Amino acid sequence: MPNNATTSISALKDNVGQEVTLAGWLYNSRSSGKIQFLIIRDGTGLCQCVVEKAKVPEKLFDELKRLGQESSLTVTGTVREEARSVGGYELAVTNAQIISAAEDYPITPKSHGIDFLLKNRHLHLRSQRQWCIGKIRHTVIDAIRRFFNDNGFTLIDTPIFTAAAGEEEQTLFGVDYFGTPMYLTQTGQLHLEAAAMSFGRVYCFGPTFRAEKSKTRRHLTEFWMVEPEVAFIDLDGLLELAENFVTFIVAQALQNNKSQLETLGADITALEKTKAPFYRLTYTEVVDILTSEKTKKFLADQLEDLKNQKQQLETKIAELEEQQKGQLKQWQKDKIAAELIELSSTLAEVNTRIENNPKHTKLAAQFQWGKDLGGSDETIISQMHDKPVFVTHYPKEAKAFYMKTDRDNEKVALNFDLLAPAGFGEIIGGSVREDDYDLLVNKIKAQDLDIENYDWYLDLRKYGSVPHGGFGLGVERTIAWLTGEKHIRQCIAFPRLMDKVYI
Ligand code: 4AD
Ligand code: MG
Repeated sequence: MPNNATTSISALKDNVGQEVTLAGWLYNSRSSGKIQFLIIRDGTGLCQCVVEKAKVPEKLFDELKRLGQESSLTVTGTVREEARSVGGYELAVTNAQIISAAEDYPITPKSHGIDFLLKNRHLHLRSQRQWCIGKIRHTVIDAIRRFFNDNGFTLIDTPIFTAAAGEEEQTLFGVDYFGTPMYLTQTGQLHLEAAAMSFGRVYCFGPTFRAEKSKTRRHLTEFWMVEPEVAFIDLDGLLELAENFVTFIVAQALQNNKSQLETLGADITALEKTKAPFYRLTYTEVVDILTSEKTKKFLADQLEDLKNQKQQLETKIAELEEQQKGQLKQWQKDKIAAELIELSSTLAEVNTRIENNPKHTKLAAQFQWGKDLGGSDETIISQMHDKPVFVTHYPKEAKAFYMKTDRDNEKVALNFDLLAPAGFGEIIGGSVREDDYDLLVNKIKAQDLDIENYDWYLDLRKYGSVPHGGFGLGVERTIAWLTGEKHIRQCIAFPRLMDKVYI
């Protein structure tokens, strides 16, 4: 049985030439008569374990040969360096002990559809992709806490049951609170503003809930958001804080998770460009860009590129389908099948983008000053940049009641969104807060919100009101950008989607 004498796969580099015991699960195996290659995973990495028939008891050799994927076991052997092997080290096996043999593990190396994988998320978490994403998520969350803790912020835990909307009322989840209607929090911001008046610099970090009736790749109904709030800060100060914060998160991921980012196929060169200063555009400049000839051409060129990609993908798929007809070993068949699923999913995505291109081109060309930016508009601006882009000064009517009106231009709010580059879109939303009592009362009324619910919030403008502001960063969207995952449901262990909550 595993005990303190086991070694973790991540520590093999310190044990070359020595005999160690690994405790883990059988990730994959292949056998060629007198030799078996078992890939073991133990939560810290993967290791190829080589079992030679002559070196272990015959009974054990046979048992291992029949052992199913995801069986648990311990394996003992000598560590040797092997550059071609996964992780760079392998084990020359002398003994092994099966802890629990698994049969017919439902997730095979062949590909499966997304619904199947979501239903089996409790098992799919063991896959390499989910493991890599989980490790990166851990780093991102650690970096978030570290950044604020090291920069004079105090953590405040804001409540999850709330009496009033913090964002749009349409996305509130109602709860029956002992007969009184309450809601699951959409943001900790309002309570955090109260805390900022005590501590100066504060942050909250927890799950937030939005009854988003949109099935997009960017929306979850339960997601994690970190929100800093600072007393005595202006818009420039907020942008600088957000810039330093995001730069730190990316640097930490690059430093701690390069191999996981590589495994996921993330664009590391692009991530390395994430350094201050980020681009800064006003909303009005964005409208000018969206409606320009330059953007029309950009989207037309993009359509040409997509059509070329489509053709190349179709050719490659036809080639592989032809190869499938030949005489192949099982592992070769599996490899081609997995490649085909991957290519078909890329092709489906390219087809969707080809289909959407004219719609998005039209939406951009006809964009009218005053509307909030839509998902496709954000995507276009984000695709045109190789570093994150701040978009500031949105029309105040399109934005939340608490945002401060720009005293130099009453039509706009002192707010910003941060768009991650290469098409990923918004990862942060933030603003300076309206600090004038009367103006805030007017805005609450103008949005038809029940003023009584905001009594305590208005008190903050009565007793020592100061300029203040903050922002919220969505954890899953940030991870999707870092890893290149297309859908944020892959960036949380147990996703909650509008139409899908499987486990
Ligand atoms: O822009 P949002 O709605 O801003 C707020 O909630 C402010 N109260 C924050 C603040 O100023 N303290 O949300 C902030 C971020 C978004 O930029 C996005 O990254 C993420 O939260 N987010 C979502 N992520 C996943 N699924 C959803 N449905 C999300 N809605 C927002
Ligand atoms: Mg937003």
